[in-house]
Amino acid sequence: MARQPIIIDCDPGQDDALAILLALGSPDEIDVLAVTAVAGNVPLALTEINARKLVALAGRSDIPVYAGADRPLVQDLVTAEFVHGKTGLDGADLPNPSTPLAEGHAALAIIDMVRREPKGTVTLCPIGPLTNIALAMRLAPDIIPKIKAIVLMGGAISIGNITPAAEFNIYVDPHAADIVFRSGVPLVMHGLDVTHKALVTQERLEAIKAIGTEVGDAVYGLLTFYNIFDQAKGEGQGAPLHDPCAIAYVMFPDLFDGRDCHVTIDVSGGASMGRTLVDWRGRSEQPMNARVIDQIDADGFFSLLTDRLAALPHA
Ligand code: RIB
Ligand code: CA
Repeated sequence: MARQPIIIDCDPGQDDALAILLALGSPDEIDVLAVTAVAGNVPLALTEINARKLVALAGRSDIPVYAGADRPLVQDLVTAEFVHGKTGLDGADLPNPSTPLAEGHAALAIIDMVRREPKGTVTLCPIGPLTNIALAMRLAPDIIPKIKAIVLMGGAISIGNITPAAEFNIYVDPHAADIVFRSGVPLVMHGLDVTHKALVTQERLEAIKAIGTEVGDAVYGLLTFYNIFDQAKGEGQGAPLHDPCAIAYVMFPDLFDGRDCHVTIDVSGGASMGRTLVDWRGRSEQPMNARVIDQIDADGFFSLLTDRLAALPHA
């Protein structure tokens, strides 16, 4: 398969970190055009420097990192330090990046890259709130038919994780999600139903520690911290490793399975604000606008992840 050009839009976040490292550890399959940061797990001032720290950890400081939206389109920002720690990357003390931010807003950079590349070749991989993606679409609707696909982490068929109804990425900016899900771009949605089948068990954590490189040690620290929140809830098997599911899908979609559905975003402002209403049984007769993933070969996923982390530059 030809190398797939992608843009990773993220809010690092330990699981975002694994997504970035998986992509950068897979140069035969993926060409990361850029990493774009958005406010989400922690404020933008942290997600953008975290993104630069991570491309440096992977030995790829040549990859441009752009800062994007520092708040959602309409609502106030909600962050998740209770999961990710105050830095967003608690668990590893990564050196400050030597490279500056790339010039310009992330949304404008996304527009430029999609316009520059051949039509239908660029996949967007948003793994945080969808603010930058929605801004790009509103500023330059001409890019919408040029985007190959949007392979995202967000939403849920069933229950939420930030409210009973909503998953964090969608909840933080439901208006942006509404724009993206109505855009007509082919969507692949990795919601909580599949990501909670990709758990960072102790065995999987030990396999990462056994890599024995700077990257492996950093990831071991990040995921050890990341497990704390779920272990404290008594969900002892390990934390769900949300974001790398989107990257793994771009490379090896057969690791996953799901169903084409119509998905609506609740922007009504009530108790279900930010819920992804997934018409799993096709009752609405609305046109399908997303492939909703609910199955994963978790062992195959973690084996891929561990192999690609090991492929990254050794200290
Ligand atoms: O709900 C999980 C999602 O919210 C993940 O992308 C995590 O990094 C946070 O952004
Ligand atoms: Ca994220």
